[in-house]
Parts: sequence; C-alpha cells; structure tokens
Amino acid sequence: FFFMSELNLKPLYSAETVAATVTRLATEINRDYQGVDLLLVGILKGSFLFIADLCRQIEVPVSIDFMRLASYGSETQSSGIIELRKDLEISIRGRHVLIVEDIIDSGLTLQSLLHRLRERQPASLKVCALIDKRARREVDIEADYVGLTMDDGFIVGYGLDYDERYRNLPGIYIAEFP
Ligand code: PRP
Ligand code: MN
Ligand code: MG
Repeated sequence: FFFMSELNLKPLYSAETVAATVTRLATEINRDYQGVDLLLVGILKGSFLFIADLCRQIEVPVSIDFMRLASYGSETQSSGIIELRKDLEISIRGRHVLIVEDIIDSGLTLQSLLHRLRERQPASLKVCALIDKRARREVDIEADYVGLTMDDGFIVGYGLDYDERYRNLPGIYIAEFP
C-alpha cells in the first residue's frame, strides 16, 4: 500500500477567526443586497464549507447553485488552463449573482469564471472570497468582498485541499512540505 506522508501543518486562521470573518462578510452582503433576490454560486470543491456557513447568515431571499472548475497542473500551482467540469443549473440572466470562492490565488480561475458568467447577462455579478492571496496574482482581479488576506504560502483546511486531503479541517493551516 501507498500511504501519503503527513504534511506539517502550522495554524494560520483558527475556526473562531474563520467564523467571525464569515459573519462579517454576511453582514456586508445583507446590507448591500437589501430588497433583492440573491443567487449564491459556490465554486466546488473548495468553497463548500464557506458557502454552507455563509448562506445560513444571509437574510435576503437567496438561491444557491454550484459550478466546478479545475485548473490543470500541479497540486500547488495553477496552470492557467481552466476546465469547466460542472455548469450551473439555474439561469443567471437578470439575476443578482454573487460568486463564493474559498481563495483567490493567481486569479486565473476567477478570471475564467467571470468571463463565462458575464456572457450570460446577469443583473449584477460580484465575488466574495474568504481568502485573498495577493502575492501570486497573475491577473489584475479583485474580489468585491474579501475575508482574510495572506502572503505567500500553501494553505489547507476549511475546504482547501492538498491533493484532495485536509478539506475537513475546521481551521486553516499553512502546509509545510517535508
Ligand atoms: C483552488 C481554489 C480556487 C482556485 C484559486 O481550486 O479553491 O478555486 O484554486 O486559484 P487561482 O486563483 O490560482 O486560480 P482548485 O482548482 O484547486 O479546485 P478545488 O476547489 O476543487 O480544490
Ligand atoms: Mn476551488
Ligand atoms: Mg484544490
């Protein structure tokens, strides 16, 4: 059998810090979307916990759908080729759409996503990212709602994986490779 070696994990954001950040973001979203129907679009898989926690604090009428994008390349670096593996099931034409992402790193996933969704003529299209990692940005792109900002480093937990592991951790950790 092959056993994957354990990574060294250094705490970066505790579950409490994440929860407080999600609450702050929900407060901003509730304020900005007063009186409109909101469509949250979670980007699988990384955003599954974030959107689950965020949507439970949204107080405007809300629908939820998911997309799955994946970039080819190594587990720690995006190749820039973004493949659409699962599309939305709800039409976004004329809808107020808020993309929910766990992290913006190079920005290539988000760039591809915004390009695809703008063509479908939503009433509005904004982005909420739990984590903004600006150090490795390759395209000039920013989220409208940003939870936490960090410098370079590979992180796991709260939806974020390394080779599909560690998504279930309640907090967020810097992974140190042995
Ligand atoms: C990760 C993360 C973001 C994206 C950010 O997803 O969840 O979606 O990369 O990277 P970028 O800004 O450099 O494009 P990944 O493609 O690893 O898929 P996953 O969500 O299923 O882990
Ligand atoms: Mn992702
Ligand atoms: Mg990933």
